Amino acid sequence: MQDADMQDADMQDADMQDADMQDMVRWVENCRVCGGNDWLDVISFGSTPLANGFLDPAAVPEDEPAYPLEVGVCRDCRLMSIRHTIDPEALFSHYVYVSSDSDLMAGHMRHIADLCVRRAGLDAGDLVVEMGSNIGTQLALFQEGGQRVVGVDPAKNLVQVANDQGIPSIAAFFGAAEGARVARDFGQAKLVLGRQCFAHIENVHNVLDGVEAVLAPDGLLVIEVPYLVNLIEENQFDTIYHEHASYFSITTLSRLFAAHGLHIVDAERVAVHGGSIVVMASRVTAGRRPMPVVAELVALEQERGLTDDSAYLEFAARTRRVLAGVGDLVRDLAARGKRVAGYGAPSKGTALLQFCGLGPREIEFCSDTTPLKHGKLLPGTHIPVRSPEQARSNPPDYYLLLAWNYAEEIIRKERRFLEDGGRFIVPIPEPRIVSAESVLESFLESV
Ligand code: TMP
Ligand code: ZN
Repeated sequence: MQDADMQDADMQDADMQDADMQDMVRWVENCRVCGGNDWLDVISFGSTPLANGFLDPAAVPEDEPAYPLEVGVCRDCRLMSIRHTIDPEALFSHYVYVSSDSDLMAGHMRHIADLCVRRAGLDAGDLVVEMGSNIGTQLALFQEGGQRVVGVDPAKNLVQVANDQGIPSIAAFFGAAEGARVARDFGQAKLVLGRQCFAHIENVHNVLDGVEAVLAPDGLLVIEVPYLVNLIEENQFDTIYHEHASYFSITTLSRLFAAHGLHIVDAERVAVHGGSIVVMASRVTAGRRPMPVVAELVALEQERGLTDDSAYLEFAARTRRVLAGVGDLVRDLAARGKRVAGYGAPSKGTALLQFCGLGPREIEFCSDTTPLKHGKLLPGTHIPVRSPEQARSNPPDYYLLLAWNYAEEIIRKERRFLEDGGRFIVPIPEPRIVSAESVLESFLESV
């Protein structure tokens, strides 16, 4: 082929990639909740690959696709969200995130099951529908309690696992059509549950149409989402990546639900995923009176400035500072010959490493308990993932704690690593180093 032809072919390839890219990414002009278009620009993280796009080392694409990641706040309903939308098929139809089998998470799921049984007044035989049901771990607890259960999740690989374990599950995106289908095939739901999936949903109105179709007149909708108050106050900027379209407050959720004849009747702050809220809503027509905590949380959000611009701009400034701090700290350790590895390979970890510009030169590997991730490379940074057993046979000097939402559990579990002189770098809210001595000191302070 002549040079000119080769150039033509290259350009055609580039055009094709641009066309693919345009199908995959779309700029969001109107707020996903209220449709408004008065945006506050909060922060841009440039272009990054998808945080959950783990790579097979034998098939690393030469030109790994990257997508813009910009954050804005709607000045009308105060929804914080990312300004692009990515094709959900690419994000969720094959998913490597498996509900964590950590003690913290197991205890939390038990708590959610008990709370729902109590607040929705569930009896044996009542129908529980869960969206984003993953491998069915949460639904199994309702099944044990005698409820009928149906899970709906777009990840075919995970739905297969759930069905194999006896949890009836459908591989689909929950929405108006799916809600109607479940109502037709299984009846009306006394409880519709969505744990840690609302942030992922592009078309939230379509999902609530689905809830309206399947929820019994006196049924309860329970959703659990990372809480915007925690995100902003604790600098949890690494929870911002393409899979998470929206970051919710009670203020914004109330507005969203009102458009579907629903209102929030109760809420509870919980520790999972760095601080989340469990929000309980019912049909307005059911006549349930909201608990005082709902108004209290709305007041808290106002007090913390989430209904003004400045809180978000200050968050952006702190984020830039912490990113630089973590990057400099790790680069400095690596330059002094210290071995640094990542603890956990959660999506937020791959996001954080990319934002900080850290790669395999500074971070030798990431240790993670999820078998699906072992032997893979982190998207963007191409840092290899090892099993905890492999990691333990040759531990680093420092672990950058990427799974910081399990900090307590992990630090307790890794006492041996600390006693042998190992240290953790906890990246947020501000980077700090944890050693055996500092754990002892903080324990002594707490007694
Ligand atoms: P998550 O924050 O999205 O639940 O992800 C946590 C990740 O961290 C997940 O990939 C599993 C991993 N992990 C470990 O590797 N070791 C641990 O002790 C815990 C609790 C999690
Ligand atoms: Zn809005």
